[in-house]
Amino acid sequence: MAMQVVEQRKRGFICVNAHPEGCRRNVEQQIARVRASIPRKDGLRNVLVIGASTGYGLASRIAAAWGFGARTLGVFFERPPKEGATATAGFYNTVAFHDAARHDGLAAFSLNGDAFSDAIKAQAAEIIRKEMGPLDLVIYSLAAPRRVHPRTGQVHDSALKTVGEPFSSKTVDLKHESVVHVTIEPANEKEIADTVAVMGGEDWRMWVELLLEQDLLAPGARTVAYSYIGPQVTWPIYRDGTIGRAKQDLEGTSRELNARLSERLGGSAFISVNKAVVTQASAAIPVVPLYLSILPPVMRKLGGDEMPIDQMIRLFRDFLAGQDRNLLDEEGRVRLDALELRPQVQESIAKVWVQVDSDNLSRLTDFNGFKRAFDNLFGFAVEGVDYAAPVETALRW
Ligand code: NAI
Repeated sequence: MAMQVVEQRKRGFICVNAHPEGCRRNVEQQIARVRASIPRKDGLRNVLVIGASTGYGLASRIAAAWGFGARTLGVFFERPPKEGATATAGFYNTVAFHDAARHDGLAAFSLNGDAFSDAIKAQAAEIIRKEMGPLDLVIYSLAAPRRVHPRTGQVHDSALKTVGEPFSSKTVDLKHESVVHVTIEPANEKEIADTVAVMGGEDWRMWVELLLEQDLLAPGARTVAYSYIGPQVTWPIYRDGTIGRAKQDLEGTSRELNARLSERLGGSAFISVNKAVVTQASAAIPVVPLYLSILPPVMRKLGGDEMPIDQMIRLFRDFLAGQDRNLLDEEGRVRLDALELRPQVQESIAKVWVQVDSDNLSRLTDFNGFKRAFDNLFGFAVEGVDYAAPVETALRW
């Protein structure tokens, strides 16, 4: 037992601990959203989620379990609690997921380790074979800063840089809470290749190949990976930058996997382009925090201010179960970001973008909402949690 009062600890903007009760509330709220929005459906019995502890992956796992009654295997990389120190938020999210799943009679399995490694892939295959059954759905939702390549042993560090030209833009200096100009230098060829190695499609392909080889995919099995396109203000750093190169590679992998799965199993692979939301991964991308401070108030006014769970409810209910082909673009990608990219939304954002400075940041944008959303990711500033009360931190699922 390790009962303690958990006060938020920060290093710069990053939060270095997590609150188990806040994380539990966040998970319970997402479960409640799914229950209210997806009338319980069949069609997904066994689902693997790679990157299942936070953000879009966690929301996907919750939608599969509470929307469809699916058995889920979640793979993620999180720090457990140790000697009075709290675990990471994704660890506590998973504890809360398992507690709720047990309560509701849903089978759930979790693997904490490096999803890029052969060892974790082999352990996942073993669990699927022994405890679950052939998979109907594989969600690929990793966001990682580095990858140790399982064949070469080489370490690839991703770089969030432009390709070709340097790019200058406004951004929020999160430490000083001011609007500043940054210049992001272009990546060299190695940095581009490394980013593709981490965030591109090779590891997704390795997962699917292993599952195919070992007959662990059900007839008609589907796999989906998540991508982002975003508005023009972020293109130099996102879509046209190193991360965009990795996403292009991921999209190429999706076409390749789609051909193989449809031939072998009558299955499919596709990309879902999701809306920008505050997650640990997105907050680390230069310029994006400013965009994520301006976007929510505009979306609240014009409609479509969705959280990851709302996006995943639409993906699961409307596309995976409802087969709504209106969600697809001409390249066959699911476009959950369509509301974000509406011209009137982007025009409103562009107007704020040119005006915003350090003095009017709180007035013109919802920077405070961005900070709160970021703290929420770690279980802090969550409504209804008594932060003065001691809580058990040495939790396990
Ligand atoms: P996140 O940071 O919330 O989640 C990342 C997940 O990957 C966590 O479960 C983490 O434990 C896991 N992970 C990281 N390294 C790992 C490793 N080596 N082994 C096993 N697990 C590992 O990120 P987020 O934002 O949910 O991103 C997921 C996907 O969604 C990414 O492909 C991202 O590009 C995409 N996306 C995100 C958007 C956003 O605005 N946040 C928008 C559109 C797409």
